[in-house]
Amino acid sequence: MTSALVTVAVSERPDWAGSESPAELANRLGLAIVPQHTHPAAVCSFVIFYQEDRLSLQHTAPDAPGAICVNFDDSAMAYRQSHPLQPEALLKAAGVKQGKGQSVLDATAGLGQDAYIFASAGCQVVMMERSPILHALLSDGLRRGIASENGRVAASVARMSLVHGDSASLSRASLTEQPEVVYLDPMFPERRKSAKVKKNMFTLQLLLEEDVPSADLLTNALQLAHRRVVVKRPRHADFLEGRRPSHQLIGKTSRFDVYVPPAVA
Ligand SMILES: C[S@@+](CC[C@H](N)C(=O)[O-])C[C@H]1O[C@@H](n2cnc3c(N)ncnc32)[C@H](O)[C@@H]1O
Repeated sequence: MTSALVTVAVSERPDWAGSESPAELANRLGLAIVPQHTHPAAVCSFVIFYQEDRLSLQHTAPDAPGAICVNFDDSAMAYRQSHPLQPEALLKAAGVKQGKGQSVLDATAGLGQDAYIFASAGCQVVMMERSPILHALLSDGLRRGIASENGRVAASVARMSLVHGDSASLSRASLTEQPEVVYLDPMFPERRKSAKVKKNMFTLQLLLEEDVPSADLLTNALQLAHRRVVVKRPRHADFLEGRRPSHQLIGKTSRFDVYVPPAVA
């Protein structure tokens, strides 16, 4: 189910229910519209649309998984929030203490799942995402998350903000505050157990398959972070940019490589 060229268009679906019209969304994201009664797969590899007020993305292949959206309220998030292992490993790798309000720059935000773990632990999180489609999904997730009826979710989302851009070219001078921790998760996992997470990451992988990895992501992050840089890697992958970490936390399928910037070490 790979496509020669990843293209995204706005689908003018009959069940469209959102805060903006198909034309407004298409105009904002610079996308074409797939009119009703046109088969999307003939026109593009992904469609984006509002369904029940959620900005959603779906691959158009007949065997593709269902639509994905950023929903900080949903069960996958709740699972990650209540499941002790992975969130704890991430927070431990980052040296985050619950409720201390540390600042984190998630420089490869994706669907904001890891960023939400930091925010749930009381961190102030800036998410940076270079894909305009992912940025739009995240922005929509933040809009709904802040209005969540679940007070814990709304309070966590209130600690998250979003920037569109390439974090490999982010300079320290452009930041109002130097983040204590910079978090990088540029690669896709080899395997995930939860079906929901698997669907999300699978769709992301198809969407971003033509993206070229940034050459100096880690080198630049080390200049931005005040205390440490944490890199999530598939368990057996090489070190990012060939740099040996200060220490590691190794899990079953993935690991966290921890780097202490030279000024701190
Ligand atoms: C594996 S996903 C991250 C998943 C994320 N940790 C989560 O919990 O949802 C990698 C993301 O990083 C983004 N990305 C990769 N390089 C980037 C860069 N230089 N600047 C900003 N975003 C980048 C990709 O567009 C993609 O959305």
